[in-house]
Amino acid sequence: MGAKNRRIIATSALPYANGDIHLGHLVEYTQTDFWVRFQKMRGHDCLYLCADDTHGTPIMVRARAEGITPQELIARSHEQHLRDFTDFEIRFDNYHSTNSEENRAFSVGVFRALESSGAVVTRKLPQLYCEQDALFLPDRFVKGACPKCGAPGQYGDACDACGQTYAAEELTDARCALCGQAPVTRDSDHLFFELEPFRDFLKAWIPAHTAQDVANKLLEWFDEPLRGWCISRDAPYFGFEIPGHPGKFFYVWVDAPIGYMASLQHWCDRHGQSFDAWWQNPEAELVHFIGKDIVRFHCLFWPAMLNVAGFKTPDQVFVHGFLTVNGEKMSKSKGTFVKARTYLDHLNPQDLRFYYACKLNGTTDDLDLNLGDFVSRVNSDLVGKITNLASRGAQMLHKSLGGRLGVMDAEGRALWQRACDASEAVASHYEARDFSKAMVVVRDLADAANQYFDTRAPWSLVKTDPEAARQVMTSTLNLFRVLAIYLQPVLPAYAAKVARLFQEPAYLWRDLGKAVEQAPISPYEYLATRVEQAAVDRMIEASRAPAPAAPPPPAPPPPAPPPPAVEPVRATIDYDTFAKADLRVGRVVSAELVEGAEKLLRILLDIGEDRPRQVFAGIRKAYDPATLVGRQVVMVANLAPRKMRFGLSEGMILAAGNPDGALFVVSPDAGALPGATVK
Ligand code: 2FM
Ligand code: ZN
Repeated sequence: MGAKNRRIIATSALPYANGDIHLGHLVEYTQTDFWVRFQKMRGHDCLYLCADDTHGTPIMVRARAEGITPQELIARSHEQHLRDFTDFEIRFDNYHSTNSEENRAFSVGVFRALESSGAVVTRKLPQLYCEQDALFLPDRFVKGACPKCGAPGQYGDACDACGQTYAAEELTDARCALCGQAPVTRDSDHLFFELEPFRDFLKAWIPAHTAQDVANKLLEWFDEPLRGWCISRDAPYFGFEIPGHPGKFFYVWVDAPIGYMASLQHWCDRHGQSFDAWWQNPEAELVHFIGKDIVRFHCLFWPAMLNVAGFKTPDQVFVHGFLTVNGEKMSKSKGTFVKARTYLDHLNPQDLRFYYACKLNGTTDDLDLNLGDFVSRVNSDLVGKITNLASRGAQMLHKSLGGRLGVMDAEGRALWQRACDASEAVASHYEARDFSKAMVVVRDLADAANQYFDTRAPWSLVKTDPEAARQVMTSTLNLFRVLAIYLQPVLPAYAAKVARLFQEPAYLWRDLGKAVEQAPISPYEYLATRVEQAAVDRMIEASRAPAPAAPPPPAPPPPAPPPPAVEPVRATIDYDTFAKADLRVGRVVSAELVEGAEKLLRILLDIGEDRPRQVFAGIRKAYDPATLVGRQVVMVANLAPRKMRFGLSEGMILAAGNPDGALFVVSPDAGALPGATVK
């Protein structure tokens, strides 16, 4: 074992706060966790740092759609993300947020350094501008038809229908998503971080800090001048305002990686440690685990930023591939886009950790989660080969021999020694993030142990020579203990139960050479159970879009039944009760279909407030949404907001319902203004 004690900061990419953690994310968080746990077992000082990536337009748009503030949204995500990670046994030393004071301070400091180095220049950029709302429209605030496939209602960056990406100006019939008006094009000043001056630095840095395939790909960019990177965004933007540039905010990708530093600072403050002793320490290592889609940010902009600002650059950027499920891209309609929480509702987290470990090899290859293979590998290898050693050995020892280990026999001891001798090979696989090779060693040793156990047949030996049987069980359990130590980075809860079985503390790598003999063992706790294909099927079913039937629409009231012969007595209300209803004129700024809800339209209504109200109205069968835009309607403005699956409904639109079910939205005569009270 390496004598030198290392100091390592390891990070995973910061997940966006506007989405749930899914099995694709977990490819990264599990492998970082395996690696960090391994380093800790080797006795190194290793910190696993992460945070939520909280800034940017999608977060703002999502919060707006839900009728909550971005702060509320990111607080909720933080809690949910952390719960998902914890339940998957991913153990961060710190999980912070990019929307933090530490991050603001570092972002401002780095920016000032960039600016004073002369690397930041201002350039004019033509951008869509809404004259009605008096603002530059971020991509997600523009909607129109996709320039490629013509699908309506697409945002200004990419088409949900055909996947095409484009500039917002290319949309056909672009409209401001807030007010529905056609935007104009205006120039806006933007800040660019020039990369060309860092050409030589980056050209040398990249191959020294990334794998060869990653470096080769990146270096292709160097055939041409390196393009400057736009680091500013116009208000409104959820993020940090750029000092000295009012109304301009840091683009989310500026303060996202700086979030690694913020998380470290936050951890240091809570542990009485110095930031510089970690980040700026030439002896310490800084490693980032990332997916191959975000290499440009981590291997061009990030080292250049750190370099100018006088911070140490990463020692290694470890890049992994994407997750496929059954050989294909994850798909919502096929139910293979599985959220972490949905997995947890149906299956055991350690099974996925084990499966990912069997497949991860430290390269940028994609990882395929083949669900059939998942079931058979967990059942045959983890349960059948590995865990069975413990369950058979320990249960038999308790049942027939008082739960006490003796000594190993010669053959068993030789096998155990062979298992221990694999320790540096296993360690080097872990170090290289080639977890699959580590798992192969474990599986092969388990095969040998099973063969030994079966040949010695302790279940019959115990009847004729119980002490010989005790030796076989002692050898088998000691062999199993070695495997559990090798597995601890991947299966920490499992290994903790094994440590309890042997009445030991959590394992370190150095516990490998020690045999446990002449000692009692604790009662056997279940370590792993078989995965049922039916549970996998249920998880896929639960992940399949569209989700179950829509909740009943909040508006309008159900159509009246045919008039009875005698009018029923209706409850009367007094004037004060009626006066509590705040009825207002609203102008429809946008109306669109709601995916997964047959009866609903999502309508944005201008009622004279500073932002439009969102209402989900059950009038889809009666109106083509396009015909409603610009129309005045009457809404109940003080109805308690109702949280629906699609977002928050902030009121109700009045509509008349004929006895036959036909619906007619109630409209004031021309001349009424948005926000006018209806009495
Ligand atoms: O791609 C993403 O999901 C980003 N939120 C990753 C950010 S990593 C780092 F730079 F913060
Ligand atoms: Zn507008």
